[in-house]
Amino acid sequence: MNVNNKSYRTIWLHPDNNQIVQIIDQRKLPFDFSIVDLTDVDRVAIAIKEMYVRGAGLIGATAGFGMYLAAMKADRSTFKEDLEKAADVLNNTRPTAVNLKWAIDQQLELINDCHDLDVCIEKMRQKAIEIANNDADMCRQIGLHGLKIIKEISELKNGKTVNILTHCNAGWLAFVDFGSATSPIYQAHDQGIDLHVWVDETRPRNQGARLTAWELGQHGVKHTVIPDNAGGHLMQHGLVDMVITGADRVTRTGDTANKIGTYLKALAAADNNIPFYVAFPSSTFDWSLTDGVSQIPIEQRDDREVKWMLGLKDGQEHEFLIMPEDSPAANYGFDVTPSWLITGLITERGICPPTSLEIKALFADKYK
Ligand code: MRU
Repeated sequence: MNVNNKSYRTIWLHPDNNQIVQIIDQRKLPFDFSIVDLTDVDRVAIAIKEMYVRGAGLIGATAGFGMYLAAMKADRSTFKEDLEKAADVLNNTRPTAVNLKWAIDQQLELINDCHDLDVCIEKMRQKAIEIANNDADMCRQIGLHGLKIIKEISELKNGKTVNILTHCNAGWLAFVDFGSATSPIYQAHDQGIDLHVWVDETRPRNQGARLTAWELGQHGVKHTVIPDNAGGHLMQHGLVDMVITGADRVTRTGDTANKIGTYLKALAAADNNIPFYVAFPSSTFDWSLTDGVSQIPIEQRDDREVKWMLGLKDGQEHEFLIMPEDSPAANYGFDVTPSWLITGLITERGICPPTSLEIKALFADKYK
């Protein structure tokens, strides 16, 4: 996607030095666009844990590159053990997005088959690039499928503005490119469909206000940031035509985990007969799970994120205390939207109702 008219992905190998992985430091957006170099797996782990990079697809791609950096730095005599340790470190960074393990496991598989270490390291470099390229490609396909839904709504409204509500950031910043929830939006916008996006601010870290608003703005998409609790009111007043969110882990039965607050939007959408779509690449399926609420691990983050807010003052970013510091605060990162509240899953292979049967029909080769 474009930033100030220059094309970027969210992660790439340094063009002149393939021992350096480069990322956008998302903690600083929208106030500062800065690029950070990652040179070893510990730095990669910090970048994921402290959310320099975030979003399921990008977490997976970053972990893929992290395993490659670990391979380059590993001791030749303890190569396999070093990489297993690196996998553990990375797997423990963030618990909910399953793309993390999906990417790490692909790299570990290469090690099992490998005898010549130089060949192995080169294969891991190629695999990291492939994981990133596939992520971008899947998101592009998601856009093409989701576009059809937006087009239909636009036709039903005789070309009047299609209002889409989204939560958190399932944009290109959450993946390698295009995004999942935003990909159909970008496609529709590029085709000249009149649309407008309601952007949930998404407390406590405000990824909607900070990241989604920024990237939609960079692409020229009309949008309005709203407090997290405004969506229900807008729906009751006919101001939302559809909801599209992303997902961090999806069960084989179609339950989806996404940023905390998504479930409440799904409830409000169901009460108002508004279609609620979840867009994600198939790397976000956890084929081992059958029930989202009881089985998907939900990350609990530092209560500091609830108590303090980041904002700009006099051109500088500051943290502001927004509540009595001694009051306890809870910070659940994700919630689960059960399948029956979801109209459809938008994947790279097409759109399907969130049922085991339909998911199995679309992903027969992956459904175990
Ligand atoms: O905590 P984050 O920023 O990693 O949250 C994840 C998300 O961005 C959302 O849940 C998103 O909607 C899922 S799309 C990868």
